[in-house]
Amino acid sequence: MRKEINEAVNYLEGKLSSKPETGLILGSGLGVLADEIEDAVIIPYQEIPGFPSSTVAGHKGQLVSGTLEGRPVLAMQGRFHFYEGYELSLVTLPVRVMKALGVKELIVTNAAGGINESFKPGDLMLIEDHINNFGTSPLIGPNSEEDGPRFPDMSEAYSRAHITLAEKTAQEAGITVQKGVYVGNTGPAYETPAEVRMLRTLGGDAVGMSTVPEVIVARHCGLKVLGISCISNMAAGILDQPLHHEEVIETTEKVKADFLSLVKKIVASLDQTGE
Ligand code: HPA
Repeated sequence: MRKEINEAVNYLEGKLSSKPETGLILGSGLGVLADEIEDAVIIPYQEIPGFPSSTVAGHKGQLVSGTLEGRPVLAMQGRFHFYEGYELSLVTLPVRVMKALGVKELIVTNAAGGINESFKPGDLMLIEDHINNFGTSPLIGPNSEEDGPRFPDMSEAYSRAHITLAEKTAQEAGITVQKGVYVGNTGPAYETPAEVRMLRTLGGDAVGMSTVPEVIVARHCGLKVLGISCISNMAAGILDQPLHHEEVIETTEKVKADFLSLVKKIVASLDQTGE
């Protein structure tokens, strides 16, 4: 992957409006945040050497560089998923590219199904920890110490300082947030009700089909991570109704205002993490 990373970095370095400090990965229906970026330079994934082009409905497939609340950011409007058939090394390539471009911290967002029965669709959840249920890892294969340690520590995958800051910011803005454990599944089928009960027993609060691979790579290369899930639906079997991707997009549409305002306020106060 080193060659792909270098090619993408060389290509992007000449294009970006500023050296990014904060990376943003915007999940299903949450890409609107990139529209708020000022002095935006937009680079479609298909133009970037080594990048696949994103295919999921509700995902745009472009990088947006610029400033958000005065802070230099690089945002992925749409991400790559394992269920699309991409190797995890490709799914996580953009994280390595962000790191090489100067990013210090990553804000990852996703739409997820609520497993915790006290959640409701439209809730925002700060990710406190995750369970890798992909059955594989993006770090499998030879390790180069230049990229990160062979056996990276995952005891603080999601930065406590960032969670505290996000909670404080939400409270000041009058936005209610949940906290919990995100389970990453491969998808693309939604879970069965029995699987949802199993995941609840295992300690999961929300389930989705992304994020975990990107966060493993982010920690491997030393990026601090803040994760935010939008609970777009209750996971299968909790309410007596089938699950649809359209519902996921509709709910994210409804919480857009709170989501945008929360992430912008967090970005504006990132210097206060003390890290
Ligand atoms: N399960 C898995 N992934 C999801 C869900 C879900 O219920 N909702 C949004 N992404």
